[in-house]
Amino acid sequence: MTNIEIIDVLKSLCNLDKDAIQAYDISLKNIANQDINSRIQKFKEDHQRHVDTLSDLIKSLGGTPPSGAGDIRGMFMSGLSAIQGLGGDEGALKGLQNGEKVTNKSYKDALTHDLPQDVFNIVNKNYEDEKIHLEYINATLESRVWENRKAA
Ligand SMILES: [Fe+2]
Repeated sequence: MTNIEIIDVLKSLCNLDKDAIQAYDISLKNIANQDINSRIQKFKEDHQRHVDTLSDLIKSLGGTPPSGAGDIRGMFMSGLSAIQGLGGDEGALKGLQNGEKVTNKSYKDALTHDLPQDVFNIVNKNYEDEKIHLEYINATLESRVWENRKAA
């Protein structure tokens, strides 16, 4: 891959991480369960770290990182309607679930490119975070933890 092609892949991941931060901000306001809220806060920090490391990488390759905040109307759009429709912890988690599926697929696809080892390592490390995010959100939606808390 040429540097320009690598930069394009990294920019698109970086934009996705930025979109995720916007979606996480909205979702966090709707998650009442404290355990879930603090976990989701940590995931948001992961996305922020991804933006920082990807931006540094893009610069080191001679590119310009995407500027400005993310766009909630991007990949996380269908999630936003879930937040509005269902509300509460469930709506917020459903809202993030779809965006996390897109993010996971995008990181997975990026790793299929012929990336230099240092770039591969950073993208792969981010992908490991993304897998954890999606697994946690899937498991939490399935167990409906917030209902157990109410009943206890
Ligand atoms: Fe994520």
